[in-house]
Amino acid sequence: MKLLLIGANGTIGSIVREEMKKEAEIITAGRHHADISVDITSIESIKQMYKDVGKVDAVVNTAGAAHFAPLQKMTPEQNQVAVNSKLLGQVNLVILGMDAVTDNGSFTLTTGVLMDDPIKQAASAAMANGGVRAFVQSAAIEMPRGLRINHVSPTMLEVSAEKYGSLFQGFEPASSERIGLAYRKSIMGAQTGKGFYVY
Ligand SMILES: NC(=O)c1ccc[n+]([C@@H]2O[C@H](COP(=O)([O-])OP(=O)(O)OC[C@H]3O[C@@H](n4cnc5c(N)ncnc54)[C@H](OP(=O)(O)O)[C@@H]3O)[C@@H](O)[C@H]2O)c1
Repeated sequence: MKLLLIGANGTIGSIVREEMKKEAEIITAGRHHADISVDITSIESIKQMYKDVGKVDAVVNTAGAAHFAPLQKMTPEQNQVAVNSKLLGQVNLVILGMDAVTDNGSFTLTTGVLMDDPIKQAASAAMANGGVRAFVQSAAIEMPRGLRINHVSPTMLEVSAEKYGSLFQGFEPASSERIGLAYRKSIMGAQTGKGFYVY
C-alpha cells in the first residue's frame, strides 16, 4: 500500500513510519527534509502536494501546531495558530485530498487528550482537537467510494515526557508501541468515523 504521511519527521510521525514500514511504501511530507514539501496551513501547498503525489491508499497526518498560553493572555492571533494548522490544516487535507485516495482507502488525523482532560494554557489546542473530532465523525457518513476517516487521540507520549512532562502533571504517558498500534488500527482496520483514544 502507498501511504502519504504528513508530519513524518516528528515524534508521532516517526512512530507511524516505524509501525507501518513493513507493509507500506511511505511517502513522507512536511515543511523540511521530506519526500514532498507541504505546509498544511496553505491551501495551495496542500493542492500541490496531492498533484505531486498522485494516488495513495492512505493519508495520515501527524502535523499540527497550537499556541499554548494562559486564557486571559491569549490573543485572537495566537488562537488562530491552532485554527489554521491543527484544525483547518487537517480538515483541508481531507476535503482537498479525497480524489487522491484509492477506493476503500483511509484518512487518519491526529487530535489529543487535551480535549477530554484539560490542563492550563491548552484551550486553543483543545478547541482544535474537538473540531477535528466532530469533523471526522460527520465526514465519515459522506465519504465516497468506501473511503474511511478516523482520528487518533494520544495522551502525552513517554518519548515526549521530558519536553512536556511539567505541563501534564499526573498524566500516565503512553508508550510508542501503543501509539503506533492506534494508527495501525485506523489505517489497516475497517472502522470509520472513530476516535482511537490512547488513554
Ligand atoms: N507528542 C505528544 O506527546 C503528543 C500527545 C498528544 C497529541 N499530540 C499531537 O500530535 C501532533 C504531532 O505531535 P508531535 O509531538 O509528533 O510533533 P512534532 O514532533 O513537533 O512533529 C510535528 C511534525 O509536523 C511537521 N509540521 C509542523 N507544522 C507543519 C505544517 N504547517 N505543515 C506541514 N508539516 C508540519 C513538522 O516538520 P516540519 O517542521 O519539517 O514541517 C514535524 O515533522 C500534534 O498535533 C500534537 O499536538 C502530541
